[in-house]
Amino acid sequence: MRKKFVAGNWKMNKTAEEARLLLNELIPALEPFSHIERAVCPPFPYLMMVRHMLEGTNIGVGAQNMHWEASGAFTGEVSPKMIAEFCQYVILGHSERRTYFGETDETVNRKVKSALSTGLTPIVCVGETLAENEAGKTAEVVWRQITEGLKDLLPEEGLKLVIAYEPVWAIGTGRAATAEVAQSVHANVVRPALAHLFGQEVAGQIRIQYGGSVTAKNAPELFAMPDIDGALVGGASLKAGEFAAIVQAAAEAQA
Ligand code: PGA
Repeated sequence: MRKKFVAGNWKMNKTAEEARLLLNELIPALEPFSHIERAVCPPFPYLMMVRHMLEGTNIGVGAQNMHWEASGAFTGEVSPKMIAEFCQYVILGHSERRTYFGETDETVNRKVKSALSTGLTPIVCVGETLAENEAGKTAEVVWRQITEGLKDLLPEEGLKLVIAYEPVWAIGTGRAATAEVAQSVHANVVRPALAHLFGQEVAGQIRIQYGGSVTAKNAPELFAMPDIDGALVGGASLKAGEFAAIVQAAAEAQA
């Protein structure tokens, strides 16, 4: 039985003070749902503060990106070792990083390997653009992103991964994929691609989150699907009540 996992991707939002206020509301609101996995992924400058504020809770912390090297002359970059002090998770290959910052399946692959060897749990994002979707290329694109992005990993490393299927056309648009469409991609593309890499048994244990305009309203329907193992939540993770309601929906769906 896969444990549902809901993570909030704050993206480049919130001042430090606003982040503090959000967490002060979020900590008690998430408290009743400690049997499912929850995490927040704030911007780099707040990781230390967030880690400290979450001490004594079992709410995890994730970063939104990292470099693959451990240290060196890489101005403006942050290494896995630096974030590992404050984080258990790291989001890798988010479509905004692929679109605006030139990330490729190859850089995602380097980052995934580096995160794993540093003891971080990668949340690896995949998903097709609107044009690819309309051209009927969803399966092809998602298969490639998974098989290339997770190339050369051992099955025991595969076990430590979390995948987020985030169709680009659904991110920040208010147009979430229907539960049926997301379930179908998870079950017919993502999990088979993981099975191709790591074998059926490992693939069956890897959590596949859905991401893209998840709200308190659509969450129950999404989480009712057998292969939707949680969510990566953007906009709705910036409001404590909304995020807590999504976590509650996951907790209720966790039989
Ligand atoms: P959204 O973002 O929930 O605001 O659509 C999801 C994401 O980009 O992870």
